[in-house]
Parts: sequence; C-alpha cells; structure tokens
Amino acid sequence: MQDKTVLITGANDGIGRATAERLAEKGYHLVLACRDETKAQRTADELVRQTGNELIDTIPLDLADLSSVRAASELFLAEHPRLDVLINNAGVYSDKLTLTQDGYELQFGVNHLGHFLLTLNLLPAMQCSNLCTRVINVSSALHAKAGIDFGNLRGERGAQAYDGGKAYAQSKLANVLFTKELDRRHGTELTTNCLHPGVVGTSLANKHGKLLTKTIWSLYKPFARTPKRGADTSVYLASSPEVREVSGRYFNPSQCLVKPSPTACNEQLAGRLWDYSEEAVRDYLL
Ligand SMILES: NC(=O)c1ccc[n+]([C@@H]2O[C@H](COP(=O)([O-])OP(=O)(O)OC[C@H]3O[C@@H](n4cnc5c(N)ncnc54)[C@H](OP(=O)(O)O)[C@@H]3O)[C@@H](O)[C@H]2O)c1
Repeated sequence: MQDKTVLITGANDGIGRATAERLAEKGYHLVLACRDETKAQRTADELVRQTGNELIDTIPLDLADLSSVRAASELFLAEHPRLDVLINNAGVYSDKLTLTQDGYELQFGVNHLGHFLLTLNLLPAMQCSNLCTRVINVSSALHAKAGIDFGNLRGERGAQAYDGGKAYAQSKLANVLFTKELDRRHGTELTTNCLHPGVVGTSLANKHGKLLTKTIWSLYKPFARTPKRGADTSVYLASSPEVREVSGRYFNPSQCLVKPSPTACNEQLAGRLWDYSEEAVRDYLL
C-alpha cells in the first residue's frame, strides 16, 4: 500500500480510467475528478471491486466551467492534506465550435485552461509533499500541428472558420507549453512532465466529432492501442523512481524522452500563454 494521493481528471473513461485502475492496483489513494458524478461513482465502485483497493474517492469537476474547477479545488483541499501526483488527463475533441461556460473555445478551455486553474489552485497541497510531487499533463503528438492563435481563443473568428483538428492540436500544444512554464516557475518544488499516449482506441472522437470523424475513428479503433497500453506512460511518470528528478520533459508512448515541436520549446510563447491563462482564470484562483 502506498501512502500517496493521486488526483486524475477524466478518470471515468478511456486512458484516465485505465490509468486509475493501474494505480489502484499499486495501492495509491485515488481521487477521480470527473464531470459526471454517477459515472465517477460507478467507476470508483468497479475499481474497488476489481483491485481490492478501497482508497478511491470521487470529486465533481467540470473543466468547461471555471467555477466548478474552483469548487473542486476547494473540496480537495478541505478533504486532503496532501497531493502527491496530479494527472491532468481529461480531454475533449470537437469538430464544431462550442464555447465553455466562461466563453472560451471548448478544447482550449477544457484541455488547457481548466487544468491550468486546477493545478494552480492545488499547488499549496502539492508543495507540502516536499519535492516528491509530480504533475503529469496528457498531451498529444498532434501538438506539433499548431501554434497558439491568441486572437481566436474565444472563437472570435466564428463557426465557419473553425477547424476542430487545429483547435485540438492547439490545446495539446498548450499542454506542452504549460508543462515547460510550470517547470520553469516551480521546478524546485515539484516535477512536471507531459506525454503522448499513442493513438488509443477510446471514445475521444466519438463524443463531439462530425459523422465523418466518428466513422473514420470507429474503423480505425480496432487497430489502435488499448486504453490499458495507452496508460503506460502516465503510469510510468506517476510511479517510476526513474523519473523522480526529471522535469519539464515530453515522453512518447514507449516512455522515452523525446523532443517536442520547436514551437513547444518557445519560452517566450510559454510565458505569453501563462500570462493569458492567469488573466483568464484570475477570478477563480484561490
Ligand atoms: N485517444 C487517443 O488516441 C489520444 C491520443 C493523444 C492524446 N490523447 C489524450 O488523452 C486524454 C484522454 O483521452 P481519451 O482518449 O481517454 O478520451 P475519452 O475516453 O473520451 O476520455 C476523456 C475523459 O475526459 C473527460 N472530460 C471531457 N470533458 C470534460 C470536462 N468538461 N470536465 C471534466 N472531464 C471531462 C471525459 O468525461 P466523460 O466520460 O464525462 O465524457 C472522460 O472521462 C486526453 O487529454 C486526450 O487529448 C488521446
């Protein structure tokens, strides 16, 4: 049994669920942070049954709503003295322009901004763990296909001009830039790494994708990695002693350290994204 608490976002499905199962088997105390409380509780009950680990809690978290992120942070801090591993895993893919509760483009809002706020709000609990804390951001190799379009993060260019694939790639680039900037700012207190899990047969593209995207994804799914294999690098970064002191890096699906795109290594861009994000979440910071 580990004396370590792990919070995983989007732990009721796909890679997040598989990550939770593997870490539950290792005896970690898990907090499943999910937007659908019924699905989260069902997952927690199944994990207890499957793994015999009873240290599995749930917390409501809708990353598309900054007030929900703040409430989840407050609840976590009230109930848990310490956070050892934060896995920012939840993600959404959408072909249609949709805005979050706070008016941000959905993929940027959920995949980056919600996690940015959650991480900043939970820093007090992470700094208690004395240099042993790990933050893990689940990105994607698709991060290399985009830049950050600061003039369109609220969908300003309209639905006609919306390119869902590009917006998804942009949000995954934001995950890498956030990893690097969090490491630069807090690298003496905690480690932060990000990863590409591989192409994994989950429901990611089936939820808000166009019919064509859903069809292509469904045909491809049987050839993709299983969610269990897709969880390999998240589990490695959360638990392996090999990466205890590694920070600010990007890992591939085989747990190898690789270089992200040149844009993802742009320090000025990482700083600008941090400033933008901090301003965007200012009213919800604890
Ligand atoms: N699958 C791939 O090939 C692949 C490749 C590269 C990177 N990734 C990344 O891997 C991560 C996990 O994706 P997946 O493939 O496992 O997809 P998935 O099966 O669709 O799981 C995504 C999880 O995120 C949750 N989520 C979505 N919107 C949310 C919100 N507003 N608030 C809180 N939780 C929310 C979902 O909750 P619900 O169940 O309620 O929808 C679900 O638990 C994502 O960050 C994704 O970008 C996936």
